[in-house]
Amino acid sequence: MIVTTAQLFKHAYGKYAIGAYNINNAEQAMGLFRGAIDSKAPFIIQISKGARKYTDKKMLEAIIRAADGIFPEAIFAVHLDHGDEETCYDCINSGFYSSVMIDASHDPFEKNVEITKRVVEAAHKKGISVEAELGMLGGVEEDIKVEDGHATLTNPVEAQDFIKKTGCDSLACAIGTSHGAFKFKGKQSLHFDVLKGIMALVPGFPLVMHGSSSVPQDEVARINAAGGKIAGSMGVDVNEYLPAAKLGVTKINIDTDGRLVWTRVHREFFRDKPSDFDFRPPGKIFIAEYAKFIASRNVLLGSSGQLDDLRASLKK
Ligand code: G3H
Ligand code: 13P
Ligand code: ZN
Repeated sequence: MIVTTAQLFKHAYGKYAIGAYNINNAEQAMGLFRGAIDSKAPFIIQISKGARKYTDKKMLEAIIRAADGIFPEAIFAVHLDHGDEETCYDCINSGFYSSVMIDASHDPFEKNVEITKRVVEAAHKKGISVEAELGMLGGVEEDIKVEDGHATLTNPVEAQDFIKKTGCDSLACAIGTSHGAFKFKGKQSLHFDVLKGIMALVPGFPLVMHGSSSVPQDEVARINAAGGKIAGSMGVDVNEYLPAAKLGVTKINIDTDGRLVWTRVHREFFRDKPSDFDFRPPGKIFIAEYAKFIASRNVLLGSSGQLDDLRASLKK
């Protein structure tokens, strides 16, 4: 069942985080839904601009509607990840999305406010909520690359002002993470001080953590043992998900880790069966492995086991 992102946030805020997982194809959708049901967790499906272009935005919509029918117990929201203004309007007008992200975080504060405000006005007219971003994460997302040293953490006072000025419904904050598989050099922790500062100024307001993949080192080792060359990768400590959730992080974005599962399964499969060329056998393994991965993440996010209580609260 597709619900609003606001309904998911209301149930989760301050207690656990909703996992927001990107999908690009049917195999990812099957693994995601299976894993969510196995762990009895609500979730958010994220669609990036790149995903909408990969096959066709209509294909993804059809896959999600089909998955909803195959897994009638599932409760989830559909979200545009890292949208520009034009893509936000397309999703708002499509009637399919529960929420959109307008990412104008690379623009100066006032311009970010201006753009976000316009998107919020259009979205709210249709009952759709808006995630905005303030501060700059490092790493690569779509066509934008933020070099190390140019990433800036979110300023709590600016965040309060930004939320007031734009009317956005949730805020992606830069708290030390970055997109992709190379987040940190050496051991680093999330900036809980920044989260505490924001929560103190805007209590009850849902925050979002991008760049939350943990980049499991055993996964990377298996990829490399099967011919991969991923060196020096490092992700977020999974034991920091729940403490962040208790400080208002209500949505945690995970994409890269799913790509690593895909890469490990396919590299190992074709290494061990070099004469095979049918994509369905490794595809089947991927669906099962991705489902296991999703279920394990939902346990760490605290969303596992919340489905029945959420369903009951939606009926009230
Ligand atoms: O933050 C970006 C997400 O991981 C989506 O990646 O833009 O390559 O689909 P993508
Ligand atoms: P990762 O690259 O850490 O998976 O982050 C994904 C993300 O933030 C999607 O918006
Ligand atoms: Zn992101």
